[in-house]
Amino acid sequence: MKRVRTAVLISGRGSNMAALLDAANAPDYPADIVLVVSNRPGAGGLDKAKAAGVTALAIDHTGYGSREAFERALDAALRDHHIEFVACAGFMRVLTEWFGSRWEGRLVNIHPSLLPNYKGLHTHRRAIEAGDTHAGASVHWVVTEVDGGDVIDRETVAIRPGDTPEALAARVLERELVLYPRALAAAVRQRRVNPVS
Ligand code: GRF
Repeated sequence: MKRVRTAVLISGRGSNMAALLDAANAPDYPADIVLVVSNRPGAGGLDKAKAAGVTALAIDHTGYGSREAFERALDAALRDHHIEFVACAGFMRVLTEWFGSRWEGRLVNIHPSLLPNYKGLHTHRRAIEAGDTHAGASVHWVVTEVDGGDVIDRETVAIRPGDTPEALAARVLERELVLYPRALAAAVRQRRVNPVS
């Protein structure tokens, strides 16, 4: 089996990224994670990636004059490393249509809600305030609409009486770390277009 050269994009602590790296240590996992990129140089996930022996780059978005200029640098790094598939894991940049269309079918994201509910930010607070009984996380294909692509897989978590957004986020994160490795494997197996030429 030829494993698919995969990059993980992060902005912060990288716990989802670490779960993906763990899963990809298995020789039969379909994604080979060969690159981690953060748009924030101080992201804790960069050190975790280096400790795991994976190439880790910071491409600081504040050093670019436009969203697309940053994305062109990111795209160039992905191509330099012959990346075929990209997993966003706590990557806090909205992507333009330029990048999205370039990587469509090879680009997935994890979002901490039961999509299509609660796209965007503050998902757990919004679910609690709405009186929902359940929250969760979703892995989805990335399209131009933020958090709008088809869902690949989800995990559901019960909301408890008196739950705070922080307590709920911690329980959802435990499920994210199970969900993302499973969903990335499924996504890589069904990727929708040929690798980047
Ligand atoms: C996760 O909850 C993810 O769903 C959200 O941001 C958080 C990232 O956490 N988009 P980590 O960097 O993977 O620890």
